Amino acid sequence: GLRQPIIAIDGPAGAGKSTVARQVATQLGLVYLDTGAMYRAITWLVLQKGIAIDDECAVAQLATQCKIELTPSHNLEIPVRVWINDTDVTQEIRTIEVTSQVSAIAAQSAVRKALVKQQQSWGKRGGLVAEGRDIGTHVFPDAEVKIFLTASVGERARRRQQDFTKQGQPEVSLEQLERDIAERDYKDSTRKISPLQKAADAVEVETDGLSPSEVAMQIVNYYQKCVSQL
Ligand code: CDP
Ligand code: CDP
Repeated sequence: GLRQPIIAIDGPAGAGKSTVARQVATQLGLVYLDTGAMYRAITWLVLQKGIAIDDECAVAQLATQCKIELTPSHNLEIPVRVWINDTDVTQEIRTIEVTSQVSAIAAQSAVRKALVKQQQSWGKRGGLVAEGRDIGTHVFPDAEVKIFLTASVGERARRRQQDFTKQGQPEVSLEQLERDIAERDYKDSTRKISPLQKAADAVEVETDGLSPSEVAMQIVNYYQKCVSQL
């Protein structure tokens, strides 16, 4: 049958993917899909079960057998509610520990295969704004609208620091945040399987100095233009 449009948003850590994708989805009446939350949820489960990050067999078994659910969050500060095997891990998946290990889990082929399959089945009928690292290149290569969101490392580190402060978390220095972000970007863009890359037909939006709603407006305008030409 007919598929509704899909907006694919990819880009490095802290570019504003979650914040902007969520605003765009609300404005256009589409479903928001946070794929990073799924990689984070598996990472949390691996840590919680005491499985070694590099034990690819055990990680693969978890990834193929677990049940992940994403449900809408009614709190503006929380992108989505995330459940794994019926446990609410919405808060737990955002810790520094999960963040520091997630790229190693996301590089494993069995993990990617299981999660991409799930994402594609959720997206079969379209009507979503999906956000991650490989959405336009791999998960939804036929997406009507593809955005590659970027910002300088300094700007992204400042955004993360503000997020920590707002959440009342202990202060982390800008230097530390820049190092962490650069390291994760490096791992995500150099891994063998579907690395972070701008799709050939994606539009790059550089967001330094722009507010989330300014970026969302640019994407909504671009979407209207693309859809009117279908
Ligand atoms: O929000 P933030 O940019 O910190 O990260 P995220 O979008 O929650 O994604 C966390 C990690 O999951 C990324 O650093 C990637 O290693 C991985 N990921 C991926 O490999 N593919 C995706 N489609 C989404 C996330
Ligand atoms: O998902 P991703 O890691 O790309 O970024 P995020 O989790 O949405 O975090 C981005 C942070 O920067 C949020 O606190 C936003 O309010 C802020 N921000 C933004 O997203 N976009 C801008 N143009 C400016 C700031």
